[in-house]
Amino acid sequence: MKIDEEPEILALLCKWCSYAGADLAGTSRFKYPPNVKVVKFPCSGRIDPVIIFKAFIEGYDGVLVSGCHPGDCHYGTGNYHARRKLGVARKLLETVGLHPDRLYTTWISASEGEKFANVCEDFTARLKDLAEQKEEKTLSREGLRE
Ligand code: FES
Repeated sequence: MKIDEEPEILALLCKWCSYAGADLAGTSRFKYPPNVKVVKFPCSGRIDPVIIFKAFIEGYDGVLVSGCHPGDCHYGTGNYHARRKLGVARKLLETVGLHPDRLYTTWISASEGEKFANVCEDFTARLKDLAEQKEEKTLSREGLRE
């Protein structure tokens, strides 16, 4: 991650709430950083931590995971499963030498387009702060790089 570049963010979103919220942000013309790429999942509970690590290996600076608010998952408990898996993923990030704040998790409903835009702005700012600390590394197939 370089200081002078916009952080590349991969957003993994549940299609029922967070993806619809991102869509609403777009149709409402809320501004958010352009380097956020969105991938739609049926439920946040289907987001495997392996996907998160592959995103870092592919060069993303941050991964945003969002699903329905607790109690609103269309499949009942998917977001509770996601919360547990993401907690483990954050610990694994530390284990491999990446800052756990490079994984951002939140809950965004279909009516929270503005929140989606704000989360993207906030996460981008956090990633830029990490880049300025010059302690952040990049994960690759060969291991960690400066
Ligand atoms: Fe949205 Fe499960 S359907 S988190």
